[in-house]
Amino acid sequence: MKPVYYEDGVLKLIDQTKLPTEFIVHSYTDYREIATAIVDMIVRGAPAIGVTAAYGVYFGALEYTNEPKELFFSKLKEVCTCLASTRPTAVNLFWAIKRMGSVIEANKDQEVSVIVNQLKNEAQNICSEDIQMCRDIGKYGAELIHYGDTLLTHCNAGSLATADYGTALGVIRAAHDAGKNISVYADETRPFLQGARLTAYELQADGIPVTLITDNMAGWMMKQGKIDGVVVGADRITANGDVANKIGTYSVSVLAKAHGIPMYVAAPTSTIDFNMKSGDEIVIEERDCREISHICGIQVAPDGVAMENPAFDVTPYQNVTAIITEKGVIYPPYDINIPRLRGK
Ligand code: MRU
Repeated sequence: MKPVYYEDGVLKLIDQTKLPTEFIVHSYTDYREIATAIVDMIVRGAPAIGVTAAYGVYFGALEYTNEPKELFFSKLKEVCTCLASTRPTAVNLFWAIKRMGSVIEANKDQEVSVIVNQLKNEAQNICSEDIQMCRDIGKYGAELIHYGDTLLTHCNAGSLATADYGTALGVIRAAHDAGKNISVYADETRPFLQGARLTAYELQADGIPVTLITDNMAGWMMKQGKIDGVVVGADRITANGDVANKIGTYSVSVLAKAHGIPMYVAAPTSTIDFNMKSGDEIVIEERDCREISHICGIQVAPDGVAMENPAFDVTPYQNVTAIITEKGVIYPPYDINIPRLRGK
């Protein structure tokens, strides 16, 4: 399932706010609308956001193709700033925009039409590379999964969060395809319900046994010995191995540690922020508190109550058993092994 793809001159996005009850695909050619789609979480998940932003840069460039070169470059800066201002936590967004920026820089002496064409190629490369990275993550990750394991996952790090196949769900898919007879507990993932709406939907569609639980049930499942491992995705991994991921991941990591259960983080190296020393520096997105006070449009909290809605948390590296990347599995000490990935 591809949540973001380019077809016949338009960018297509599956509307993830409507799943699983409605399957709607929107078409985009305006970079401002693409930026809004990221803010509104029509497209979400770190790698998928990166791919979408890359296409956003291309469509922005296309809009200004007939402008004089200097104006073209200054408009492109505006395009990149607009796309970069959508969501602060997932580093893939900035990574993809930076990659598009390198293409602009490398081709700055070319005709505008050539630059625009190169940007289209780069967006397509970012998209297809992401699919391959997820496949490789799946291959490496499946080796860590034992026959008959039951795995807990949080949020959605599946096809819908990437260009296809998924990171955490890529590991689960690969283990399933290898005949390991696995099953999955999916945390519902309040407040946006990515686990209930998206992970349960994806796994069910693929015929992978999945049981949905509310977030507060995970500890009890672990206590009863029903969970053999945790696999989650990431929005940003810092150089010391701290992991920003969907709110609730930190709690799951503490529970996993308390029960002696391995906690695996599956992510492409585009999710690693090599320049950030630790998770203390990560900007955590705060979202509209209506996501808490309302569920599917129905008010569930009293008017005027104080609320907070951090969309992500940071799991300290001490709670992470291993990080599964497309270049292989990384173990502690992360502050030594993560920087080594850079040159690989
Ligand atoms: O707010 P979201 O839905 O964009 O958050 C998504 C997550 O936290 C995912 O776990 C993460 O981006 C990894 S996706 C492969």
